[in-house]
Amino acid sequence: MKINARLKKIGDLVEANSFCLDVGCDHGLLDIYLVKKNKNIKAVASDIAKGPLDQAKKNIAKEGLQDQIEVRLGPGLDTYTKEIDTIIISGMGGRNIIGILKENSKILKKIKTIILSPNNYQEDVKKYCCKNGFYIENEEFVRDNRFIYQIIVLKPGTKKYSKKEYFFGPVFIQKKGPLFRDYYLRELKSREILLTLLPKNYCIKRMKTKKEIDMIRKEITD
Ligand SMILES: C[S@@+](CC[C@H](N)C(=O)[O-])C[C@H]1O[C@@H](n2cnc3c(N)ncnc32)[C@H](O)[C@@H]1O
Repeated sequence: MKINARLKKIGDLVEANSFCLDVGCDHGLLDIYLVKKNKNIKAVASDIAKGPLDQAKKNIAKEGLQDQIEVRLGPGLDTYTKEIDTIIISGMGGRNIIGILKENSKILKKIKTIILSPNNYQEDVKKYCCKNGFYIENEEFVRDNRFIYQIIVLKPGTKKYSKKEYFFGPVFIQKKGPLFRDYYLRELKSREILLTLLPKNYCIKRMKTKKEIDMIRKEITD
């Protein structure tokens, strides 16, 4: 079964012997990839909606993996059970991801790894996690078709980050590389467009956008 570059990269970041809960599994392709990798990874594929979960069930059955991947219907972390040590949430908006984590924040105390790939509001997601008992162990970019996605790996613990580290990502800013440049070039362009559209009386938003433009320009031209 074909998996896209984004899901493959997420799958490759999962440690051997992990017991994963894939929240919002949709088609279940990540879970199929995970158990087929043969690193003794176990997976629970869960989704809030019956339609996607039925599709996941079909895909899992096609691969003959019904005994290895459990499928659970329910919102967010409601499908958590105590053997799970890794939470994966990808392909959703950042605000939705924060809502899911907040809703069952007590569960997070029992988790050894969280892997997130929000479609937006990445900075807010990082701030929420880092204010709630996790630090950013790794960050990866992955290009999939026309887009570059962020993947964030969090571990229990505390680390203090500067505003700049939250904005660019503390690991990204250390590693940089070609995808960092491409990703922030796009962010730069979207802010430059935004600035031309923002009414003059939106002073605070205009100032914030200008500051971010300067910060990005400095970082990608250094
Ligand atoms: C765009 S798909 C992403 C699928 C996959 N995780 C990926 O990265 O490609 C989003 C999935 O999340 C599910 N979803 C949205 N909100 C959810 C929630 N609060 N709890 C569980 N699943 C949710 C949707 O039903 C949908 O199947």
